[in-house]
Amino acid sequence: MNVTVTNLIPEAGVKLLRDAGLQVKMPAQDGCPERGEVLKQIAGADAVVTLLTDRVDDEFLDAAGPQLQIVANVAVGYNNIDVAACAARGVTVTNTPTVLTEATADLAFALILAATRRLGEGERLIRSGQEWQWGMFMMLGSGLQGKNLGIVGAGNIGLAVARRARAFGMNVWCYEPNEIPPEQVEALAITKVGFDELLRESDVISVHCPLTADTRHLIGAAQFEQMKPGAYLVNSARGPIVDEQALVQALESGRIAGAGLDVYENEPVVPESLRRLENVVLLPHLGSATVETRDAMAALAAQNVVNVVVKKTAPVTPVRG
Ligand code: DGY
Repeated sequence: MNVTVTNLIPEAGVKLLRDAGLQVKMPAQDGCPERGEVLKQIAGADAVVTLLTDRVDDEFLDAAGPQLQIVANVAVGYNNIDVAACAARGVTVTNTPTVLTEATADLAFALILAATRRLGEGERLIRSGQEWQWGMFMMLGSGLQGKNLGIVGAGNIGLAVARRARAFGMNVWCYEPNEIPPEQVEALAITKVGFDELLRESDVISVHCPLTADTRHLIGAAQFEQMKPGAYLVNSARGPIVDEQALVQALESGRIAGAGLDVYENEPVVPESLRRLENVVLLPHLGSATVETRDAMAALAAQNVVNVVVKKTAPVTPVRG
């Protein structure tokens, strides 16, 4: 049986595949291979291990061929995969939830702190070599204690951010269409609200919902208008959930005080209109980027492949379309 891994992944995953007797084809270098090259490499594969930079659509599935059994995405988000097209061909789709929860929540909270305490601006000032002097009113930010954190999407990552927020003395408000486990609601003193109320009441909003047709541009010009003046927005989920142009306007006009972004509408493009603003912290999609987490993600994706292709059992983390 053949597995094509479209991009280099950690050895933890590759070893698991090889130990199960699978033939593994994988690029030798890290990076994002050209689409044409990927389509060539997946031809005849029984399993394909993908990253969020791979678009899995009919063209991709045609290129792989009818023997393909599983697409194992090394990411929790799977908006890069046409799940219905896979289902129509009997191809299983899996993702890597849970193992990246804490790393992604850490990063989201780092962005909350960086945006509210103006860490990007401070860092740029020091690096610029400009003269500076401690001052009573210099670069004042906003404290978190007693403030309301609005979490959009209270799944694993949203709730892990909520735990951090409680440790910082924040009140947690959640907008989540599905049920939040009652014990979590109680332990984290979560106030469950509708989306409009969350926009109106939050001092900081952190986005953790998946990107779907329903959540594309969930936060746009009208939603920025509803937010508290001087609120902050953090997005470490998927870029297109936020209308980037509307965000630029809200930041430029001072409608909101600041933002922290790990994801963008057209990754890896980050528009100049965002890059030139002082009141936004910009990171290159680092949510799950720790050694331990990437090892665990690769191992989980590989285990999904082994279960489906070798053991003929259910995958550990199937995606439900
Ligand atoms: C994911 O897993 O969806 C993350 O965005 C990867 O860092």
